[in-house]
Amino acid sequence: MSEEKSAHYSVTWQEEEYIHPPNDFVGQANLTDPKIFERFSLENFPECFKEFADLLDWDQYWHTTLDTSDAPCWKWFVGGKINASYNCVDRHLDKYKNKTAIHFVPEPEDEPIVHLTYQDLYRRVNETAAVLRDFAGLKAGDRVTLHLPMTPELPITMLACARLGVIHSQVFAGFSGQACGERIWDSESRVLITIDSYYRSGKLLDHKAIGDVAVEVAKKEGQDVDKVLVWRRYPGKYSSAAPVVEGRDFFMDELLKEYRGKTVEPVSMPAEDILFLMYTSGSTGRPKGAQHSIGGYLAYVTWMSKNIQDIHPEDVYWCMADIGWITGHSFIVYGPLACAASSVIYEGVPTYPDAGRIWRIAEELDVNIFHTSPTAIRQLRKAGPDEPEKYNYDFKHMTTVGEPIEPAVWRWYYDVVGKKKAAIVDTWWQTETGGFLCSTVPGLAPMKPGSAGPGVPGIHPVIFDDEGNEIPAGAGKAGNICIKNPWPGLMQTIWKDRDRFVSTYYGKYNTNPDSKDWRDWPYMAGDAAVLAKDGYVRILGRVDDVINVAGHRLGTKEIESAALTVQEVAEAAVIAAKDEIKGVVPDLYVALKPGFEASDELAAKISQAVSTVVGKIARPRSVHIVPDMPKTRSGKIMRRILASISNQTEVGDVTSLANPDVVELILKKVQG
Ligand code: PRX
Repeated sequence: MSEEKSAHYSVTWQEEEYIHPPNDFVGQANLTDPKIFERFSLENFPECFKEFADLLDWDQYWHTTLDTSDAPCWKWFVGGKINASYNCVDRHLDKYKNKTAIHFVPEPEDEPIVHLTYQDLYRRVNETAAVLRDFAGLKAGDRVTLHLPMTPELPITMLACARLGVIHSQVFAGFSGQACGERIWDSESRVLITIDSYYRSGKLLDHKAIGDVAVEVAKKEGQDVDKVLVWRRYPGKYSSAAPVVEGRDFFMDELLKEYRGKTVEPVSMPAEDILFLMYTSGSTGRPKGAQHSIGGYLAYVTWMSKNIQDIHPEDVYWCMADIGWITGHSFIVYGPLACAASSVIYEGVPTYPDAGRIWRIAEELDVNIFHTSPTAIRQLRKAGPDEPEKYNYDFKHMTTVGEPIEPAVWRWYYDVVGKKKAAIVDTWWQTETGGFLCSTVPGLAPMKPGSAGPGVPGIHPVIFDDEGNEIPAGAGKAGNICIKNPWPGLMQTIWKDRDRFVSTYYGKYNTNPDSKDWRDWPYMAGDAAVLAKDGYVRILGRVDDVINVAGHRLGTKEIESAALTVQEVAEAAVIAAKDEIKGVVPDLYVALKPGFEASDELAAKISQAVSTVVGKIARPRSVHIVPDMPKTRSGKIMRRILASISNQTEVGDVTSLANPDVVELILKKVQG
């Protein structure tokens, strides 16, 4: 692996000892059959995935498990017809209609928790689907952009779309109007669904105003939005300073009055049609729409929810991710609801109003499965290392996801949060993969702090070096982690960009682009990893221009192009700087055009530009205005050197640079 790439590796810890899951957990676990890996061996591929599909109710059963004729755009469960909303709602009514489907916890602690039963969910999804179909004119195959925060209206809207076969594209509420507008344009949505306001850190944020910017941006790009449907955080009361545009903006609570009690037949959709788009960052400035199928995706997340999350219908399950990211789609909405769980949705920030909030919610709702990211764990540990023991809750199972977790942080999670009574899974996967790739099966295998674990049943990982040679288990060498086989949860393609899909994920290791044999198409994830002798995978980090800030995926190119919108800026380079809480944060270096002077005001303006164009989560830790960028003789910016300066590690030999002297100047400026 090249030196430039290795700058991204952030993990330095060693292999740890095994910790065995508690007996009480194993005794009740959904999956304890050690033969599972034999059943899901490559010899049984792809037919083994029938077990996944059989967790769902099909309108018409499928005839072909895997069709490879358009490799590497795989088709799963071909011939099948299905509806995702039916599988997450209607089919539970017989047995569970009075059971809670969604516990909604508002951020203000004096607002009561809302408990929506499966019957309530059924009613609200149907009425919403009626508005979307009969008022907004949406039909199967149309795209609609959602820009919604963590309130029940988000899963309700998603399920209403799914009921109609409408493709939803939910944009994380923390993203700017500009970012949302670009996604409206790319997905060609003519309807935007948003909300007037929501709570974060004790403040009611004006969200509708951001939607207005998004509509303007989309229009400039050439995509007209003719309807903006606005949920109101408090029905009947508009909490936004943004004007209501006559003939374009409509309040959902007002529209719904006309559709009270209306039911909408779930549209029977081909398994291979699209359930949703989820935009994610890649190596270029343009975000890519990961396109997920209905049948394959739903089968995959349902199986994983049941067997890796160990969800039983009796469980109260809380995933603290945001539904605006893939984790929330797969493991707050689709997977848990398909398993008839009670899924918790919390509106606000974990430490509001104090470090005990999360554990109070867990106690009050009797949560027994908990799912979050290393960043949240680090935050909670810092804010209140002894808080969990003050509350009377019992977790049987916990998940960590999104970034590598340090063994010390893992131990606090296990000892203090889980009170040594919960099994932990460290699940490694991506927006593109729909569901988990590596994790231990919690009822079967021991945990190893800092390692995700082996491939989950049906997933066969392999680590290749840059030349395509397999790096054997236990070699202690890092390489590019790939998955040998396709699986039903894998994205179908990048929306409207098959070439980018093929080149990004298969370009490096496929040697025969005409092959229809899946064995010729290992999926390259874009992460560096080490495979231990026991088959456990340790993920080291991205090998491309993506950084994972607090588990949120950002493209360095997106941040750099945002900085370049400031007229004084000539060049920009973003690197991943280590951070105690967030894992890494973006650190921005810029060089100015001739005639401009560095100043604190200019640095603040550049930082603000990143916030406006991408969103607050991308705001750099610092903006370093430097005299010039360190460059190779061919003019390439040496980000590795900038990363060493930000992270206070050895810069190494710089004599081969075109401008070695500048390194000393930057060092002085940044490190003092
Ligand atoms: O680098 C890996 C990291 O997050 C990336 C995927 O980000 P995203 O598509 O936003 O999906 C996040 C939720 C799955 C991966 O390429 N990553 C994800 N899970 C882990 C991880 N790194 C280490 N350990 C994990 N468990």
